[in-house]
Amino acid sequence: MPSTIFVLNGPNLNALGRREPGIYGAQTLADIEAMCVEHGKTLGLDVVCRQSNHEGDLVDWFHEAGGVAQGIIVNAGAYTHTSIALHDAARAIGIPVIEVHLSNVHAREEFRHKSMLAPAAKGVICGFGADSYILALNALKTLTQQTK
Ligand code: DQA
Repeated sequence: MPSTIFVLNGPNLNALGRREPGIYGAQTLADIEAMCVEHGKTLGLDVVCRQSNHEGDLVDWFHEAGGVAQGIIVNAGAYTHTSIALHDAARAIGIPVIEVHLSNVHAREEFRHKSMLAPAAKGVICGFGADSYILALNALKTLTQQTK
């Protein structure tokens, strides 16, 4: 059976492609999700993609993934920097969470340097544009193999 991986995107990421393309690139979220599904197939991973601008939806999906998936890749957008609820959700489920960002948040405004989620994540990948998601899928492939 292929492992299931949830790829979750948070607020404003539905605007990718037209949102600050100099920072986030020209690809739309649909482009990135399609890329994740395709790359997942090459790794034998079943990739489920969701996006919401609402923090509670992301929390609910963390819990759902905890029951049916082997890992989560999450770009929580600005909630990364504020959400204790997402930190707690990541700790409440027994599967690895990888935090990703398109931009290198450490090379940007100081308020983006702090992640509430990172201490509860298995790891963080940022600064590689859409490739951040691909690198995270590769990492989860290795992790899920280790836990089999
Ligand atoms: C982002 C970085 C966050 O600071 C920002 O709020 C976003 C996008 C990124 O992918 O680079 O919405 O998560």
